[in-house]
Amino acid sequence: MGDTVGYPRAASGIVFLKATDLEGVRNFYQDQLGMTVWLRQADCLLLRHGNMVLGFCDRGTDSFDGLLTFVYPDRAGVDRMYQRLTDRAESAPEESEKYGIYQFFASDPEGRRLEFQAFLHPTEPIVSGCDLLVSRRSVRRFLDTKIPEEKLQQVLELCRYSPTSRHSESYYFVATSNRENLEFLAGLRGSSSAPIGEAPMAVAACSDPSKSGGYVQDACIAAYHFILAATVHGLGTCWMAGMDRAEVKDCLGIPLEHHVATVTPVGFPAESPQPKQRRDAGSLIR
Ligand SMILES: Cc1cc2nc3c(=O)[nH]c(=O)nc-3n(C[C@H](O)[C@H](O)[C@H](O)COP(=O)(O)O)c2cc1C
Repeated sequence: MGDTVGYPRAASGIVFLKATDLEGVRNFYQDQLGMTVWLRQADCLLLRHGNMVLGFCDRGTDSFDGLLTFVYPDRAGVDRMYQRLTDRAESAPEESEKYGIYQFFASDPEGRRLEFQAFLHPTEPIVSGCDLLVSRRSVRRFLDTKIPEEKLQQVLELCRYSPTSRHSESYYFVATSNRENLEFLAGLRGSSSAPIGEAPMAVAACSDPSKSGGYVQDACIAAYHFILAATVHGLGTCWMAGMDRAEVKDCLGIPLEHHVATVTPVGFPAESPQPKQRRDAGSLIR
């Protein structure tokens, strides 16, 4: 055994804290901070904020000498929390040059010190599978910001794990940031393809039929894998239909016999689409 076995896959983690008034804790963390109840366990209440799980246990004391930091994707998130917690805040949000963050401090009803912050530089994303699946939305408006090469590489690193028929790995991606190409692709299907013209980049998810009988499925799954991986890294995408056509292949240098599952615009989102009405889970299965 020993070193050759390595570590098991990391699942998650919980920080447990002593509390005096669990109901007061629930009120504050759920109603004021928007945490959700993840689990009730004997005399403990487990609450989650994104990927952070805090377990508060009734221990008749609230001694705690640390800092609970709630991280938001951007400054606007920190500002919104400040609006909610102005009464409890030590001061208004400000930048910390030392740590490269935008932050403010506050305290909870039992005196624990809280920090609300956004990183001012890119970080490795930490997003739970559930959050990813629930939060992915089609984005059709984008910031004019160029996508750093490093970010695209990080997305592609995740795309390596897309499943394929008989492990053929028949899929590949073609990216373009050429403005003429983007305008051309955007104009192919009227308003349906127009979002490509709003983005700094478009990516075609393709597959090679000589490598797999399941090449159409391979390309479709790889396309969705790309969409999810891009979402993990804070990029917006939108599936564009009807892109398996000669004009697209000619524009992007894709062999005519290859399949193009979609060409998605890719960029930093300039919109946060509102949640859509979804069917109940029970009606999904027959
Ligand atoms: C197969 C497929 C084809 C789509 N075609 C287009 C399209 O051509 N243009 C477009 O703007 N959105 C297109 N969409 C995006 C859908 O409109 C979108 O997924 C749907 O409205 C649900 O919204 P959501 O993605 O934000 O959850 C397509 C989505 C799928 C899955």
